[in-house]
Amino acid sequence: MAYQRVFTLSEVAQHKSKNDCWFVINGRVLNVTKFLELHPGGEEVLIESAGKDATKEFENIGHSNAAKKLLIKYQVGVLGGYAFEETETKDDSIREPRKKEMEAFVIKNDKRPTYTAILEFFVPLLVAGSFFAYRLVTRTEQMLY
Ligand code: HEM
Repeated sequence: MAYQRVFTLSEVAQHKSKNDCWFVINGRVLNVTKFLELHPGGEEVLIESAGKDATKEFENIGHSNAAKKLLIKYQVGVLGGYAFEETETKDDSIREPRKKEMEAFVIKNDKRPTYTAILEFFVPLLVAGSFFAYRLVTRTEQMLY
């Protein structure tokens, strides 16, 4: 299991300014100083909860799973009495979701025989030619009789 620094609530309480903003959510001790400006809910709400256990506030907003995953990114330790599995701690697999690369495939299986291409070109030509020849013959017949 990965080692996690253990903090007390009074230690967390010492980090409650805009330049040094920590709090606790579900037993995780978070340093959100760098996240303040990025928080979609604004930095004020975070600063108001600085240095405290903000689990209730966090849960009450109904944060998305993406927001819950972000918690791990800012975790600096755990509150005394809490323990987390290794898979729940700083681990690349549960950090911010990575952009999925677009999958693309090209159909390269265009192995049509050459004679079909020739047929496709000459058959319409032959049909059109026969039509005009027929028209020519019938017209000359009409002119003769
Ligand atoms: C490190 C902790 C936090 C993270 C990573 C975080 C992340 C986020 C994210 C990603 C959103 C966008 C909506 C969503 O995806 O759910 C959000 C919205 C919000 N958050 Fe946080 N948040 C944190 C802590 C808090 C706390 C402690 C509070 C309240 C005291 C709070 C209040 C809000 C509010 C008010 C919104 C806007 C909701 C809305 O417009 O519907 N957040 N947060």
